[in-house]
Amino acid sequence: MIILFVGDVVGSPGRQMVKEYLPKLKKKYSPHFTIINGENAAHGKGITEGIYRSFIEGGADVITMGNHTWNKKEIFDFIDDAKQLIRPANFPTGNPGKGIAYVKSAGKELAVINLQGRTFLPPIDCPFQKADELIGEAKKRTPYIFVDFHAEATSEKLAMGWYLDGRAQAVVGTHTHVQTADNRVLPEGTAFITDVGMTGPYNGILGVERETIIKRFKTGLPGRFEVAEGPTSLSAVVIQINDQTKKAVKIERILINDDHMFFE
Ligand SMILES: [Fe+2]
Repeated sequence: MIILFVGDVVGSPGRQMVKEYLPKLKKKYSPHFTIINGENAAHGKGITEGIYRSFIEGGADVITMGNHTWNKKEIFDFIDDAKQLIRPANFPTGNPGKGIAYVKSAGKELAVINLQGRTFLPPIDCPFQKADELIGEAKKRTPYIFVDFHAEATSEKLAMGWYLDGRAQAVVGTHTHVQTADNRVLPEGTAFITDVGMTGPYNGILGVERETIIKRFKTGLPGRFEVAEGPTSLSAVVIQINDQTKKAVKIERILINDDHMFFE
């Protein structure tokens, strides 16, 4: 099984990169499943129904979210009907939507789980206990489990990777928007990376127009965050799973921008 995961798509520059490169990445890697983190897809914060549908029509199987899940209010109108959209599973009980989705391809089923960290982020339910619960549930249906752990702290993301080693085929970190170079397969067969990185403006600061961010650091004054313009970048990973052993065997980083060329 091959899984392609595209990191946090930021605004229209990020969506444009997905439109341009998703077909090329699919041709090159032939993934059975494609997953996109879309929590920043609508102007940097949240997602709209139209964007969700465009990702699915563009070839994604599941869209994952994060701390900006509720930023675009229209999500409350469509999330319960959006079968391929998941938000962090450890949001408080009773929140709309769900944190796990099952998708099928070539006779195999993959459970995709979205979790969110608690370090430097709003207090929510324990992601580790929620992972235990959902993996227990998923294992009754399928041996294949993918986890998008949307978290700020590298330590929390690494802890989740090791905690789930051998219980999920992949644990990928999202949210911090900078791709880390620690992609590896852990000893019990879980593909891991601390952060996949962002898909969006290359010359902004985490996708945001940089003058606003620099001014905020210098003055401490609030400013309106706008998605940066200019050159763009795409960050992703491709994970390969051995169907006999059900263990991940490889996790490859993908970075496409002015400094990293894409070879078809
Ligand atoms: Fe985030």
